[in-house]
Amino acid sequence: MEIIIKADAQEASLEAAALIARQLRVKPESVLGLATGSTPLRLYERLCAMAEAGAIDPSQATAFNLDEYVGLPGTHPQSYAAFMQAHLFERFKVARWHIPNGMSADIARHCAQYEEAIREAGGIDLQLLGLGSDGHIGFNEPGSSLASRTRLKTLTARTVADNALHFASPEEVPRHVITMGVGTILDAQACLVLAFGEQKARAVAAMAEGPVSASCPASALQMHPVCTLIVDEPAAALLERRDYYRWVYENKPDWQRP
Ligand code: F6R
Repeated sequence: MEIIIKADAQEASLEAAALIARQLRVKPESVLGLATGSTPLRLYERLCAMAEAGAIDPSQATAFNLDEYVGLPGTHPQSYAAFMQAHLFERFKVARWHIPNGMSADIARHCAQYEEAIREAGGIDLQLLGLGSDGHIGFNEPGSSLASRTRLKTLTARTVADNALHFASPEEVPRHVITMGVGTILDAQACLVLAFGEQKARAVAAMAEGPVSASCPASALQMHPVCTLIVDEPAAALLERRDYYRWVYENKPDWQRP
């Protein structure tokens, strides 16, 4: 895993945008896996600005989102479909995008179809991920199978509390989500994880330096051959080898830089 430590979330987001821009330059018809939440907001703003300035062209790309709340229609302002529309797709116009349907009457069937749609698109080239403060990726909460596929999951009380800031009250946060599985995520050609703020420091350390364990689903990314983790200083605070990661980045050969 490559670990890049940036001074703050803004700088980290610029680095992430450069990686996505390179992906689209190298393969304009890329399949991107995308996340919602607070973490990618600066990145999405940057991508929109780059697209509007003609610096990148997402018009041939396909996107698949990681997850969606069960019981919220795409028109609900807190649905992840509405989030993606508002924060990315209104200005960053991809050829097509997919998100699980939280209103599906047959969730098991819908999840199997979502997996099939990813396969039919040729698989995900670059999967963007945020990190839950409990170590989740997508909504694969601690204890999730590291081989799991897209399915229904029940959020932990902690994730409900973390996500409550987007709702009028914690009671309004749905308890269930449809999420790509850890196995689905590991199938991506490359993964890009972002984590900002001291509230993520423990999860970052567990993900990158802890044992590979279902207790921290993000630790499964240690098994991924092409995974980049970009963090700000507060999120890096508990990394034991952080000086080495800085050293690696400073000495990175030019041809490896985006
Ligand atoms: C969202 C998702 C989640 C979030 C994670 C961090 O699509 O898959 O794993 O990335 O909960 O959320 P934020 O960014 O709000 O801290």
